[in-house]
Amino acid sequence: MSKYIKAFSEDGVGVVQLHRPEVLNALNRVMVDEIVNQLESFDKNDTIRVIVLIGNEKAFAAGADIEEMMEATPLTLELLNPFVEWDKIGRIKKPIIAAVNGFALGGGFELALHCDLIVAAEDAKFGFPEVKLGVLPGAGGTQFLTKAMGVRKALEWIWLGEPMSADVAYEYGVINRMIAPELVMEETMRLAKQLAKQPPISLRLIKEAVHAAVDLSLQDGKNLERKNFYLAFASEDQKEGMRAFSEKRPASFKGR
Ligand code: CAA
Repeated sequence: MSKYIKAFSEDGVGVVQLHRPEVLNALNRVMVDEIVNQLESFDKNDTIRVIVLIGNEKAFAAGADIEEMMEATPLTLELLNPFVEWDKIGRIKKPIIAAVNGFALGGGFELALHCDLIVAAEDAKFGFPEVKLGVLPGAGGTQFLTKAMGVRKALEWIWLGEPMSADVAYEYGVINRMIAPELVMEETMRLAKQLAKQPPISLRLIKEAVHAAVDLSLQDGKNLERKNFYLAFASEDQKEGMRAFSEKRPASFKGR
C-alpha cells in the first residue's frame, strides 16, 4: 500500500498521482521509491500503453523534501546514493506524460523533465531554487535544462533560481503544451489516450531513438534508428498497419 501516491488506470492509460498535499508534494525518499515502483509496474503491465504523472491543482511537486535533506552529510548521501533511483525512470519504455499544475520546482521540475512530454497550466511555475538553499539541482536538472535551453539560458535560470513561467518554458521547448489550469488533466488524458491507440512497439522504439539523439553522434543515432526500424518489421502491428492502409480501413494495433 503506497503512502504518498495514488494509482489508477483508464482506457490503457496508467495514472500516478503524487499525494502529499500538506507539503506541496515535496518528494521524500519513500515517495520517490513509490513513484518509481508504480512506473515500473505500469511499464510491465500489458493493459497499460501510456503513463501519466500528475500532482494536484497547487503543486506537481515543490522539490525534494528539504526537511529530510537538511541533516544529510556527504557520507550519508554517498551511502544512500538517492538519485540512482531516479535513473530507473529513464529506463521506462512506455511514454510518460507529466501533467503540471502549480509548482514544479527543484526535484519536482526534475521529475517532470524525466517524463517524455509535459503538459502544463498557463500559471504553472517551474524552476530550480536550489541555489537559494546553498546547493544545486541533484536529480539531473543541470543536464536536462541545458540540453533543452542551451548553456547560457540554463546557467542564468539555475544561477538565479527564479521561478520560470510556463510561457518561458514553452518558448524554449521545455514543455509541450500550455493550457488553462482547469483543462490540464483533461488535455493530458486526451493526449495519452490518443497515444494509447498508436502501435506500442513503434512508440517504444521511437522513444529509444529520439532520446538517444540527445547524446549520440548523428551516425550512431541513425544506426540505432535503422536497427529499430528493422526490428519493427518483426511485429504483427507492422503487418496490421500496412495491411490496413492497403485495405483502406483503420488499423487496430495489438502491441505484438
Ligand atoms: N520540502 C519540504 N517541505 C516543503 C517543500 C519542500 N521542498 N516545499 C514546501 N514545503 C512545505 C512548507 O514547508 C509548508 O509546510 P508547513 O505548512 O508545515 O509550514 C507547506 O509545504 C506549504 O508551503 P508554503 O507555506 O511555503 O507555501 P507557499 O505557497 O507560501 O510557497 C513555495 C510555495 C514557493 C513552493 C515554497 O513552499 C517553497 O519555496 N518551497 C521550497 C521549494 C524548493 O526550494 N525546492 C527545491 C528543493 S531542493 C531539491 O529539489 C534538490 C534536488 O535537486 C532534488
